[in-house]
Amino acid sequence: MKIAILAYLEAGESKPDIVMEQVADALQSAGHQPSVITIHDDIVEIVDRVRAAKPDLVFNLVESFDKDMIGGSMGVAGVLDLLQVPYTGGGPGELYLQEDKSLSKKLLDYEEVRYPDFALFAPNADFETGGNLRMPMFVKPQRMEASQGIDEKSLVRNTTELMERVLKIHKTLGDAALAEEYIEGRELYVGVLGNTLPVAFPPIELDFSGLPEGSPRVADSAVKWDETSERYKGTKSVLATLPPELKAKVQKTAIDAYRAVRVRDYGRVDLRLTDTGEIFVIEVNASCYLEKTSEFAAAAKADGINYEALVNRIAELALERFKERKTARKRQRRTAAATATPAKTPKS
Ligand SMILES: Nc1ncnc2c1ncn2[C@@H]1O[C@H](COP(=O)(O)OP(=O)(O)O)[C@@H](O)[C@H]1O
Ligand SMILES: [Mg+2]
Repeated sequence: MKIAILAYLEAGESKPDIVMEQVADALQSAGHQPSVITIHDDIVEIVDRVRAAKPDLVFNLVESFDKDMIGGSMGVAGVLDLLQVPYTGGGPGELYLQEDKSLSKKLLDYEEVRYPDFALFAPNADFETGGNLRMPMFVKPQRMEASQGIDEKSLVRNTTELMERVLKIHKTLGDAALAEEYIEGRELYVGVLGNTLPVAFPPIELDFSGLPEGSPRVADSAVKWDETSERYKGTKSVLATLPPELKAKVQKTAIDAYRAVRVRDYGRVDLRLTDTGEIFVIEVNASCYLEKTSEFAAAAKADGINYEALVNRIAELALERFKERKTARKRQRRTAAATATPAKTPKS
């Protein structure tokens, strides 16, 4: 099968993220013909290159379209829909729900999945709250990922700090600010795979024990990206040790959250577990980072699914979805034709 891996390339970067190569190798090992299409901010180029590649499937790893744009990945998914090519992960509608952290919470609420109570401070809209709030709070951008705008000062303890942080997000990121109740507890990541019957992998824990006393126990941008920092070095992902019942509860919550925000094919749910055993969903990452050493791939491995099998299963899941839709449409057309009133023969 011809599979085009679609990836975003930042301006000035000559090579895409290592994950593209890893996904390509995994697909090739299963007998597919992968190719990599990198995009930057030219929509005509995307259309031309996808059309020229004539793929049976697009493995969509696009997280952005022009770095400064919020919601670019939705546009790219929309283009793939219009080109009528099957692709992995969510469509524009799903991506919209998943990217908006306050909207996602409303969907979680309907499914009775717990999340931190919050307030949303949008620059040009009404103030919005969900629940009664108490300090400390955690302030982050409403629609960004990869811990953009999150650092050691995101944890605020009074209203002055809160408002300073809100304004900083408005001014420097141009996004609304989401202030959530800070959930003290263990940080767990649960990988989920599948559509009609999604399965949850064993939870991975972000171990903060190597951080110095007083350093916030949160995955801010230093923890995720700054390899030379004390915060990066002081944290590591490990397989979580949990009593079986609690582990099952965490996995069920992850699947409920995955379904609530309509994740397709694969994703990772980030949760916090308090001392008293309460589980809060912090975020649902649809089509999460798929690098070989990522938490998602490590969790799959812990469940007996190696990297090659994982990548190829994602491709299969996307194709199955597409085929189901195609078959349903064909069936619908056939039924419509069979039940149509025959045209009357005109009198001569
Ligand atoms: N309400 C919260 N309570 C405690 N920690 C939080 C909360 N919100 C975010 N965090 C911390 O910040 C990290 C990043 O937040 P997240 O919402 O996942 O943003 P991003 O999309 O940038 O990854 C989380 O992994 C967690 O460590
Ligand atoms: Mg996150």
